[in-house]
Amino acid sequence: MEHTTAIFPTVPTSAQHKWWQHGIIYQVYPRSFQDSNNDGVGDLKGIVTRLDYLQWLGIDCLWLSPVFASPMADFGYDISDYRGIHPLFGNMDDFDELLNEVHRRGMKLLLDLVPNHTSDQHPWFLESRSSRDNPKRDWYIWHDGKEDRSVPNNWLSVFGGPAWEWDVHTGQYYYHAFLKEQPDLNWRHPEVQRAMLDVMRFWLEKGVDGFRVDVMWHMIKDSQLRDNPPAPNTAGNTANPLYDDFLPVYSTDQPEVHQIVRMMRELTDAFDDRVLIGEIYLPIPKLVTYYGEGNSGAHLPFNFQLLTLPWNAREIAGAIDAYEGALPAESWPNWVLGNHDKPRIASRVGLSQARIAAMLLLTLRGTPTIYYGDEIGMTDVPIPVDEMVDPQGLHMPDLNISRDPSRTPMQWGPGINAGFSARKPWLRLPYNAARVNVEKQKGDLHSMLSFYRRLIDIRRRSAALSVGSYSPVYSDGQLISYLRQEHEETFLIILNLSHRPAYFRTPSAAYKGIIKLSTEEERIGMHVAGVITLAGDEGIIVQIDDQELTYPHHEG
Ligand code: NOJ
Repeated sequence: MEHTTAIFPTVPTSAQHKWWQHGIIYQVYPRSFQDSNNDGVGDLKGIVTRLDYLQWLGIDCLWLSPVFASPMADFGYDISDYRGIHPLFGNMDDFDELLNEVHRRGMKLLLDLVPNHTSDQHPWFLESRSSRDNPKRDWYIWHDGKEDRSVPNNWLSVFGGPAWEWDVHTGQYYYHAFLKEQPDLNWRHPEVQRAMLDVMRFWLEKGVDGFRVDVMWHMIKDSQLRDNPPAPNTAGNTANPLYDDFLPVYSTDQPEVHQIVRMMRELTDAFDDRVLIGEIYLPIPKLVTYYGEGNSGAHLPFNFQLLTLPWNAREIAGAIDAYEGALPAESWPNWVLGNHDKPRIASRVGLSQARIAAMLLLTLRGTPTIYYGDEIGMTDVPIPVDEMVDPQGLHMPDLNISRDPSRTPMQWGPGINAGFSARKPWLRLPYNAARVNVEKQKGDLHSMLSFYRRLIDIRRRSAALSVGSYSPVYSDGQLISYLRQEHEETFLIILNLSHRPAYFRTPSAAYKGIIKLSTEEERIGMHVAGVITLAGDEGIIVQIDDQELTYPHHEG
């Protein structure tokens, strides 16, 4: 067995940590959380009625996917007024009430900032496309195309087809990384920078606690618009085979993006205790550059490895350590298990392993983000083809990548439409919603919800688990194990990512302790030492009772 020797940095106490470091973030997809006016779509007032639940669960911070004015071509990620609330979700009074109610409970509220693109109905774009000499023309990315009038380069839209749309009226192409209804802003233009920073200031002054910044790595594109090179050997074997046939090295992740992120950070830091999170899908070495030089970038560049890696103990253990090793000094890690763009964890790894995934998320070092509904083991809901609404699915019908299945209404109770709405919801519920829901699971000590709540509780009570150091202990084809330590408290976490039993041989006699939490509840409270046997799909959190381990000897 390979054992790694732990090197223990001085760990600051939790009092030295910010709320966004020790806290737990919960993503609310507003369309699907709670409908208060029975139009089949979730809204802000609905969210207010569920805050007590989130507090009961132990959540510190809500992140809301966009609730702004929008034609809804991409369900709110196409914004036509950054300062206005879409009537579907309510109005500004409802927003203020939500913010107050969140704060009253000692929780935080993050908004989704979508700075890379606007809706094609945004007044800025309407002006920009009105004529070539409109003052806002250069707020977007316009181009004549090649001599033969073909597209300027080979860049593709993430949602299928070329990323360039011909505008008949002014005889030029405009660039859109996503839908043609989502033209990309030209972030090299100082007025664009100013306008978007003003939007941020507006919300920060209102008191929101920060932003999750949509597609942060897309914001600046190559100034020469060079062709992206073909990707080697994808063999159609990726999530989005057409888009992934090219490496987006010129259309995304340009060096100048870091100046933009720094500006956003400076503004965020001008307010007390706010946070800037970046949505970034990049390999670890590139991802960590978004912390910025001397941590002047995003506080938390979202780490999506648990969303994208195969569910394999060796790969995940390697990825955790690679990430820990790549983090710049003083930067803070974070982990994500699910979001509104990816299949749900329970559908990717199954319900038994979803508990292991939860244990991993909530015991790793770094801020965890929980996707609504994952705490009750919601699975992707099969949406009949004629009910599909997600543009990604509709544009690429053969690829099976509609995001609707992971965006379905929250399952609150056994009643009509699972307590989400009295009217037919915008996306259907699963057939088992009367069985799989919050109400049922609250009363069942063995449910996924009870398990999540215990995990969150143990994490919140323990400085070691919420902010302590991380040291890998051992991993193989089945197991991942690591220590979390802070002062005199040490936890050993052992996760079996396989369905078969496995043995964990403690690296030294000092490793003995008591099981504080297990997916096999009957084992809670048992003492373990020596060779620990784990059932298939079992994860345990052991509190180590030998202080020898807490303060390992440093040589020299
Ligand atoms: C990322 C968002 O998470 C996704 O839902 C959206 O479609 C794209 N950005 C475009 O805004």
